Amino acid sequence: MIPFIDLQAQRRRLGQPLEDAILKVVRSGAYIMGPEIAELERQLCAFGQASYALTCGSGTEALVLPLMAWGIGPGDAVFCPSFTFAATAEVMPLVGASPVFVDIDPATYNLDPVSLEAAIVAVKAAGRLTPRAVIAVDLFGGPADYPAITAVCARHGLKLIADSAQGFGCTLAGRHPIHWADVATTSFFPAKPLGCYGDGGAVLCKDPSFHDLLVSLRVHGQAVKSDIEGRTFDHDPKYLNVRIGMNARMDTIQAAVLIEKLKIFEDEIAARNRVADRYGAGLGDLVTTPGVLAGGTSVWAQYTIELPARPGAGRDDLAVRLREQGIPTAVYYPIPIHRQGVYSAYPVAPDGLPVTEAKAGRVISLPMHPYLTPDDQDQIIAAIRAFVKTNA
Ligand SMILES: Cc1ncc(COP(=O)(O)O)c(C=O)c1O
Repeated sequence: MIPFIDLQAQRRRLGQPLEDAILKVVRSGAYIMGPEIAELERQLCAFGQASYALTCGSGTEALVLPLMAWGIGPGDAVFCPSFTFAATAEVMPLVGASPVFVDIDPATYNLDPVSLEAAIVAVKAAGRLTPRAVIAVDLFGGPADYPAITAVCARHGLKLIADSAQGFGCTLAGRHPIHWADVATTSFFPAKPLGCYGDGGAVLCKDPSFHDLLVSLRVHGQAVKSDIEGRTFDHDPKYLNVRIGMNARMDTIQAAVLIEKLKIFEDEIAARNRVADRYGAGLGDLVTTPGVLAGGTSVWAQYTIELPARPGAGRDDLAVRLREQGIPTAVYYPIPIHRQGVYSAYPVAPDGLPVTEAKAGRVISLPMHPYLTPDDQDQIIAAIRAFVKTNA
């Protein structure tokens, strides 16, 4: 079977230094907030063009922390796509707020700024919820339309989070999403373009006092420098908890893994782009291949295609045919979030989500990783071409 992603090939490339880095943490005993955490945060800033980076335990925590920092809660609305992983929407109910689902652009699968503005206007007119923020997603690794989304947020006074769990490293006009967004988040889940060996995440931001707030929230609302300046204590201020926070720390071992992986990340992104280009050249005349916004670069977390809209065998038949030939596929995402029972009571954009609903029934993702060989890729391309020519 051709691997859908190949973490073992990456591990072989990283070799002994990766294992040494893990062992160093094991031997140091600094399992929590060891020196690798601050070092990784420094490197994430440099890579992601951010002023501040805060590591945390997952991409989900990375989304919860800024919502908590802004005091978003009951009665508040946060706008997001429905064509995404559940975590993007789940964090609103977690803080007591309501997600409002917005449609996507048919070419890039990312938030449609027109649907977004219509949803904001409708929520304001209904008067039940207060619009507070937008979460845009860099789905499949390509950047959302940040210039247009930022303009909508500015018109309505909303904060913007770039959920770059799948897109860390993507750019638009040479700039990373944090250039436009108030906050950019990512996930280091192992299957992500930059993944660790467990769960992990990060929040990038621009403002020092906001970063301080995140530092506090990450450790149970612990007092940070600005909370204790000019005060004297008859106890250790480490145990002074000045706000409601949680435990959202990243393990030191994961930071050590990520420091090693960052050394090859640029090179892996280039390799992913070569794989995407080969798929595009081999399939672009027969199936719909993914679009990246003009002036943008993708990190290709997934390579997602759509079969021609003609009668004939569909994507499930394609998946079966490919599997018979040792080629795995996956569907991201078969059920849009607003169609999942637990999310069905939350509002959607006034014209509904027709693009989202159509895409959910059509998309299929192909093996995509930096170590996919041209031979394996040609086999995948040939199998899809044969299927489309005989069935579609
Ligand atoms: C778009 C998106 N947002 C958020 C997350 C949550 O990340 P994590 O699994 O690290 O909590 C994911 C991860 O799968 C994701 O794909």
